[in-house]
Amino acid sequence: MAWTSGGMRRSSIISVIFILTLTGTSSAKLSTSFYSKSCPGVYDAVKLVMESAIAKEKRMGASILRLFFHDCFVQGCDASLLLDDTPNFKGEKTATPNIGSIRGFEVIDAIKSAVEKVCPGVVSCADILAIAARDSVVILGGPIWDVKVGRRDSTTASFNGANNNIPPPTSGLANLTSLFAAQGLSQKDMVALSGAHTIGLARCTTFRAHIYNDTDIDAAFAWTRRCDCPRKSGSGDNNLAPLDLLTPTVFGNDYYQNLVWKKGLLHSDQELFNGGATDAQVLSYVVSQSSFFADFVTGMIKMGDITPLTGCSGQIRKNCRRVNN
Ligand code: HEM
Repeated sequence: MAWTSGGMRRSSIISVIFILTLTGTSSAKLSTSFYSKSCPGVYDAVKLVMESAIAKEKRMGASILRLFFHDCFVQGCDASLLLDDTPNFKGEKTATPNIGSIRGFEVIDAIKSAVEKVCPGVVSCADILAIAARDSVVILGGPIWDVKVGRRDSTTASFNGANNNIPPPTSGLANLTSLFAAQGLSQKDMVALSGAHTIGLARCTTFRAHIYNDTDIDAAFAWTRRCDCPRKSGSGDNNLAPLDLLTPTVFGNDYYQNLVWKKGLLHSDQELFNGGATDAQVLSYVVSQSSFFADFVTGMIKMGDITPLTGCSGQIRKNCRRVNN
C-alpha cells in the first residue's frame, strides 16, 4: 500500500513534469548558448555587418531595432516581417505601421549571407534580427546583454496582425498598455521599451496631429517641428524629425528628459508623461540612466521571448525574404 501510494505519487510527479515540459512557456527552448557548438561565429559575423552599416548611416541601428519590435509583435519573433510579398502571398511589409516606414532589410540580407558563409543552414533569420537589434543598441552607446537564441523562421506572416497588434502613434496610455499586455508585456516594460525612441527618426505624417492639435506640448518645440512638417495633410508627409531632440544618434536616457519638458515627438511618447500612472517611472529614468538600461534589457529579453518557433516548428530560411521551397 505504502509502496503503491509512493509509486503513484512518483508517477503523478513525473506526469506533471511531462505536462509542464509540453505546455511550458513557448520560450523554454531559447537559450544564450544555443549556437555555442553549431555556430559560435554568428555573433562576430552579425556585429561586423552592423558596425559597417552604422558607420555608413547611424540611423540604421534604429531601423534594425524597430524591425525586431515589429517582428515580435506579430505572431512572435519569427522573422514573419522579413517575408516579401509575392503574387500569391501577402506579408506584413505593406501593413499600415510598416509601409513606407520600416527599413533595413538589405542589412539583414547582408548579415544573412555573412552568417551563411560561416555556418550554412544553421542560424534563423529571427535570431539574426534579435542579435542585430542588440548590437545596434550597443554600438550606439546603450547596454549590452546576452541574447537568447534558438528561434526558427515562420512559413507564414500576418498582414492583419501587423495592423492590429502594433500600436499607432495616436495611441493613448490605456491603449499602449493594453497592446503590450496582449503580448505578455507589462506597462513597466512598455515605458522602458519606448526608450528605444532615444534613437531614430519619424515622418511628419506620424507626428503632425501632435504638433498642431495637442496641448501637452512645449510651444517653442511645436513651432520648430512645424517648420518641416506643414499642417496640410499630403504635404511634406515624409519629412523626417528626430524622435529624441537632444541626442538622436546616441542610445541614452535623454528621451525621457524630453518627455518631462513636453518635447515628446509622437502623441504616444508624450502620453508616458502626462499626469498619469507612468510619470514616476519616466522621472526615475531621467535621474538614473542605469535603471533605464536595466529595465530596457529586461523588456528586450521579454519581447524576444514572445511565442518563438522552436524545435521542429518552422524552418531555417535560406533567404530571409522567402520561405524555403
Ligand atoms: C510604445 C509604442 C510605440 C509606438 C506608438 C511607436 C511608434 C513609432 C513611430 C510612429 C515611429 C516613426 C515611424 C515613421 O515615421 O516611419 C517609430 C520609430 C521608431 N520606433 Fe517606435 N513605437 C513604439 C514602440 C517602440 C518600441 C518598443 C521600439 C523598440 C524596442 C521602437 C523602436 C523605434 C525606433 C528605433 C524608431 C526609429 C526607426 C528609424 O529611424 O528607422 N518603438 N515608432
